[in-house]
Amino acid sequence: MRPAVPFLELCTQYRQVKAEIDRAIQDVLDCGVFVFGGQVEAFEKEFAAYLGVPHAVAVSSGTDALRLALLGAGVGPGDEVITSALTAVATVVAIEAAGARVILVDIDPETYTLDTCEVKSRLTCRTKAIVPVHLYGHPTDIEPLLAIAAGRGLEIVEDACQAHGAMYQGKKVGGFGLFGCFSFYPTKNLGGYGDGGMIVTGSADHAEHVRLLRNYGERRRFEHHLRGFNCRMDELQAAILRVKLRHLDAWNAQRRRLAHGYDRCLKGTGVKVPVERPDTTHVYCSYVIRHPSRNRLREWLADRGIDARVQYPWPIHLQPAYRDFGAGLGSFPVAEQAASEILSLPIFPELNESGMEAVCDAIRAFAT
Ligand SMILES: Cc1ncc(COP(=O)(O)O)c(C=O)c1O
Repeated sequence: MRPAVPFLELCTQYRQVKAEIDRAIQDVLDCGVFVFGGQVEAFEKEFAAYLGVPHAVAVSSGTDALRLALLGAGVGPGDEVITSALTAVATVVAIEAAGARVILVDIDPETYTLDTCEVKSRLTCRTKAIVPVHLYGHPTDIEPLLAIAAGRGLEIVEDACQAHGAMYQGKKVGGFGLFGCFSFYPTKNLGGYGDGGMIVTGSADHAEHVRLLRNYGERRRFEHHLRGFNCRMDELQAAILRVKLRHLDAWNAQRRRLAHGYDRCLKGTGVKVPVERPDTTHVYCSYVIRHPSRNRLREWLADRGIDARVQYPWPIHLQPAYRDFGAGLGSFPVAEQAASEILSLPIFPELNESGMEAVCDAIRAFAT
């Protein structure tokens, strides 16, 4: 049975922009160049302009964006990289793929982003970089991190995979660190029709480095200047994302309207709604509430046809694959508590008011 309120639904959006998307795809097919034609380069320029950064390098996924950015920041074996205990597993996959050791830090209980006060206690002489994750679309408090990094010669690589268009102190996230990394996985605020990612940077040299890493280290045909990979974005994906980028601000505004509607409707129901810190703009990739009886609430909603999900049920150190980090239960208590109480409600630009209200009605009925 189709849920009455799906967690996410992508077909309605496609129908809304079908004419533009279909034309963009047809243009690529007619052109007959499927890798490194004009679309990828044009998308890089447009995405850089959107963020207000000088350089953007399109890649195959958000995970590859992080991996290449870390390599571009000089991270390698023997180095330590600090990140959040509560994040998509891809963040730590990328750090380990760059050869470094992951050092987890607990989270801020309000925003679920890196607790910047905790970072200092985890620094060692091997720390090379910090990866703040703008989780759910809320910016990390990045100013203190920039100060820590500047004082010790560390690099900041922002994981902005869930935060296209989110702002911190009037500037879009992704442009604060040496590199900012984005994912265009279909469920993101700017989602493609497959995988894709972007690395942005203010440094021309670093942009050139990750550009080489992306394509076998090749500067001219069959001329390889370093050992790289195949992490290219293809032309079809770039053409689709160029169309969708033009709608991103409107879609983000609609996500914010829905989030503020949820905030209002959920007052007095006993659930904790997401915060938006002063001087930030949250883009609500996810709308994450908290409730001490989260599992019961989730089942209650499921019984009423509402698909709410847990992002993420375990912090990284409690995931079976990462037991060898040696951080057992109790190591990151704020992240652990959050993981046991958080619940992501349906949010996507095409969700209508009545869908949002149906979710709130069901939560109110649970509370009474
Ligand atoms: C916070 C975060 N980092 C990294 C990634 C990796 O992106 P991708 O799935 O495009 O590899 C994702 C997406 O799932 C993410 O949400």
